[in-house]
Amino acid sequence: MSDSCPSTPVSAPGKAFLIGEYAVLEGAPALVTAIDVRAVAHRPTTPPLEPPSAVVRCAQERVALFLQGRGADPTDAQVVVETGGFTMGARKLGLGSSAAVAAAVIGFQLANAGLDPAEPTIRQQALDLAMAAHAEAQGGGGSGADVAAAVLGGTLHFQAGKAERITAPSWLHVGFVDAGAPADTSSFVRRVKKAAATEAERYRQAMGMLRDAATQFLHAYGRHDSPTGLLELIRQATARHNEGLRLLAQLSGTPIMPPSLETILTAAFEAGLAAKPSGAGGGDLVVVFAHERRQIEQFGERLLREHGFALLSDLRADADGLRSEQRTPTNSRLAGFFKLSVEARRQAVAAVTGLPESRLRDLDAGALDVHQANHMIENVVGTLELPLAIATNFQINGRDFLVPMCVEEASVVAAASNAARMIRAGGGFTAHSDPPWMIAQVQLLGDDRPGDTAEIAERILGQRNELLALADEAHPRLLQRGGGARDLEVRITDARMVVVHVLVDCRDAMGANLLNTVAETLAPRLEALTGWTAGLRILSNLADRRCAHVSARIPPEVLGGRGFDGSQVVDLVVSASRFAEVDPYRATTHNKGIMNGVDAVVLATGNDWRAMEASAHAYAARDGRYRPLAIWRRGEDGWLQGRMSLPAAVGVVGGATRVHPVCRLALEILHCRHAGELGQVMAAAGLASNLAALRALATEGIQRGHMSLHARSIALGVGASGPEVEWLAQRMIEVGEIKAERAASLLEELRHHAPTAEASERN
Ligand code: MEV
Repeated sequence: MSDSCPSTPVSAPGKAFLIGEYAVLEGAPALVTAIDVRAVAHRPTTPPLEPPSAVVRCAQERVALFLQGRGADPTDAQVVVETGGFTMGARKLGLGSSAAVAAAVIGFQLANAGLDPAEPTIRQQALDLAMAAHAEAQGGGGSGADVAAAVLGGTLHFQAGKAERITAPSWLHVGFVDAGAPADTSSFVRRVKKAAATEAERYRQAMGMLRDAATQFLHAYGRHDSPTGLLELIRQATARHNEGLRLLAQLSGTPIMPPSLETILTAAFEAGLAAKPSGAGGGDLVVVFAHERRQIEQFGERLLREHGFALLSDLRADADGLRSEQRTPTNSRLAGFFKLSVEARRQAVAAVTGLPESRLRDLDAGALDVHQANHMIENVVGTLELPLAIATNFQINGRDFLVPMCVEEASVVAAASNAARMIRAGGGFTAHSDPPWMIAQVQLLGDDRPGDTAEIAERILGQRNELLALADEAHPRLLQRGGGARDLEVRITDARMVVVHVLVDCRDAMGANLLNTVAETLAPRLEALTGWTAGLRILSNLADRRCAHVSARIPPEVLGGRGFDGSQVVDLVVSASRFAEVDPYRATTHNKGIMNGVDAVVLATGNDWRAMEASAHAYAARDGRYRPLAIWRRGEDGWLQGRMSLPAAVGVVGGATRVHPVCRLALEILHCRHAGELGQVMAAAGLASNLAALRALATEGIQRGHMSLHARSIALGVGASGPEVEWLAQRMIEVGEIKAERAASLLEELRHHAPTAEASERN
């Protein structure tokens, strides 16, 4: 296949050990699952700037030899591999990226030589090639379980180089917690192996414990009958595994089990879950197990609140192995994008996203047909159009996004793109999301019969399972998509009123309709249970269980300029943040600047911006005082650090996201994998807007930048077009009068009396 042929990107997943790491190196069984973060191999559109890594080179050589041996066209196709999803901000998670890279490169070259890696014999060949290439690049020493997961996908029983796919039992749910520090897998493994010689007896003992733990775990995991008692076996097995790891850490002098991991493990066991480090340990990932997903999610919420560790609810286990992808990963670093014409910008977006240029015609004026609009709301007389722009430079957890923003205010998009570029210099945004839980409320009223509210609450909670099942019956399709009612809470507001909260996992929907149905479905049963009367039955727009958490670190050198050095800017931004932290008047403006970025994405993607606004401001006042959503500090290394949590009740399915052609297209350009990721993009746009505003306000003030944009919009308003716009804006700034009347007379002058160089440019 020649380089000029179009080629299909091929991706391979990461992996996480469920049990058996370390002992698998000694031939013990292990259980490894494919994780849906993907290395995507594709053909570069421009020559790569860096030489290929060792693992890419080894994979290329192996697959070339293999193809030659089959008489296939030897491939000389260049390949690059994108591994964005394997990181949290700039920190790489121990999810087996190098194995995924090897698998993806081999899958890509096989697929582009016309061999289908989904076909079993080709898949086996891909596995052999990837194993050999990975071992060669790493200098041997690995078990190969990571490579097997990357090629085959699913969940694998892995032993002595052999992988067998097994079905995950429906009674066991798995979650992953980010323990906050990188793991140094290869150096840990090296040190442990060295200890095998010097501490032979204790090493054998530790390996024995790890092996027994894995065997016990696998025994329980393989049972698909009655789950009773099986979680207890899993708890025992993981506890034993943790003991084995502690011994291994001790005898090899390797920090496999640092205090951060121990804190998470203790909290998990206290919450009735099973937990163990996943992979090499050292503060990277913890895997937790429970009978119900909701137990893991509730644990995650408490863990974040009490200890600051995040449950990575985006990480999905049991992922597909090698597979073809429809588009290449986005590159959001489009230098000079702002200088292009509208048409050229559309071409650039089409080129990056792989969307046909004709699709971008949906952005033309009148895309929302008035007849369509007439079906959306009542009494329609027309549509209102606003500018839609693309913010560049956004990188979140290593993945690039072109961010559609719809807003009427000048400078919002430029400021967000500029701040995103600075944040990118520090490794991009780090983000994670709470699970998509929303609250449906039922108000229960005692009328003239004030009762024992505590007893009423008890009666309701006593029927928790029945009520949750009833809620689920209202939405069988949500259940199929992995969502559903998760929990019930009762709040006693006064002697005559209790409020029932049903917590519902809305998956990729914003959820308003389904929550309202849940509330209405449960109300009659709650009335029957309590003898009280149901009042309001409606969702709560305070989406405090569904936050996107985003943070950024910026090196001072990219913050300086216009007479300020970077370190000074760090202090000035921190001081601006502190102002908002102590003064609600300033906090309101601070948050307005954040919502400039957030709402622009909410609007562009057809989400409910009133809901987003209501939720954000209620959240900002959650402890009784209105506070800034984002705060900034100077890190010990002198870098600027910002963070924000934002309730993100947004969806990628349903509502206007489906009906409005521009919103549909905006979502396609963004290419979020799920609603949680869309919330992260919105939060990132908000944090970037905040950084841009604080940096400008704390240094030269915002009027200078604003004025030139404002002047341009006045110029447009008086009818300037093409190069006239820039000329007129510049003239207004020069004469120090940015007003419509003056603009009109200057334009008149330009057109009729004083043909200038700029004017002749028009012709
Ligand atoms: C203007 O739309 C937003 C700002 O006022 C935000 C802020 O003051 O932080 C610049």
